[in-house]
Amino acid sequence: MSPSARRRQEAGGKTRPGSPRHFLRLDDLGSGEVETLLERAVALKAYRRTGVDHANLIRRVLGMIFEKPSTRTRVSFEAGIYQLGGHGMFLSPDDLQLGRGEPIGDTAEVVSRMVDGVMIRTFGHHRVEAFAAASYVPVINGLTDSYHPCQVLTDLFTWYEQRGSISGRTVAWIGDGNNMAHSWIKAAVLLGFELRLACPEGFEPDPAILEGGASHATVMRDPRAAAQGADIVTTDVWASMGQEAESDDRERAFGAYQVDSDLMAAAKPDALFMHCLPAHRGEEVTAEVLDGPQSVVWEEAENRMHAQKALMEMLLA
Ligand code: CP
Ligand code: NVA
Repeated sequence: MSPSARRRQEAGGKTRPGSPRHFLRLDDLGSGEVETLLERAVALKAYRRTGVDHANLIRRVLGMIFEKPSTRTRVSFEAGIYQLGGHGMFLSPDDLQLGRGEPIGDTAEVVSRMVDGVMIRTFGHHRVEAFAAASYVPVINGLTDSYHPCQVLTDLFTWYEQRGSISGRTVAWIGDGNNMAHSWIKAAVLLGFELRLACPEGFEPDPAILEGGASHATVMRDPRAAAQGADIVTTDVWASMGQEAESDDRERAFGAYQVDSDLMAAAKPDALFMHCLPAHRGEEVTAEVLDGPQSVVWEEAENRMHAQKALMEMLLA
């Protein structure tokens, strides 16, 4: 079955013509919209710090469906919608009929009649697409096997608040060609920066996504070549959620792809180190780098909330 036929089937044949605005991939936004969101996130962060009221989504309800675990995504969305005057409803598959086989399209039809937006974290990207196709309200991708757009939007914000425009800069991705790498590829094209991805053989990004990003993204083998003169060095776990059984094989394949102080020294002296977290000290990154002066990982984690509040204002208002 083709991917689009599968999506239609999962959506129960439902589509919503003139449907709401969704955020399933970073390129669901235009570059101007990303800039607007980054500026708004700066303001929202300042309002929270200084106690300025910003309850712009009073009584709006965000349904939050998690088919994989989460710390940052759950806390940032739930705290964020509450600070905006709304309510976050945590829904795990164990509590939903979804976990007992109710089709995702039927779940979307029902849930989206009662809430104002839905955030989903799931496995196959086709599942968020199917949910969105059947949804009456905006759907936000909180991570799929293919993309993690909220995280990369946040990483762009983290760069923006410290250094300004990312256009023309260089980002080095070290490690797995995974969901985060795919969202970085979308970001590179959208905002016009160079992305160098150092990946071991067999762990490159999806060829179709890479082809779409060929103007700005290059895969290389050598992590040092990727990090050379970079403005941002970033990495992620070697085994993503759902790949636990491959952990040992991946540990062997990724041994030479650790971000350590030597690798950071190849980047610009003021380069930032980013990681979406959770991190494994001693695997993809050394403790020295993760906890060192160039690391912005804790700011990045907090920034999830500010960036997503800006996103929710845009989609749910
Ligand atoms: N970075 C991130 O999405 O973290 P969680 O898996 O804890 O949500
Ligand atoms: N690539 C990781 C990101 C976790 C936030 C995963 O999918 O598990």
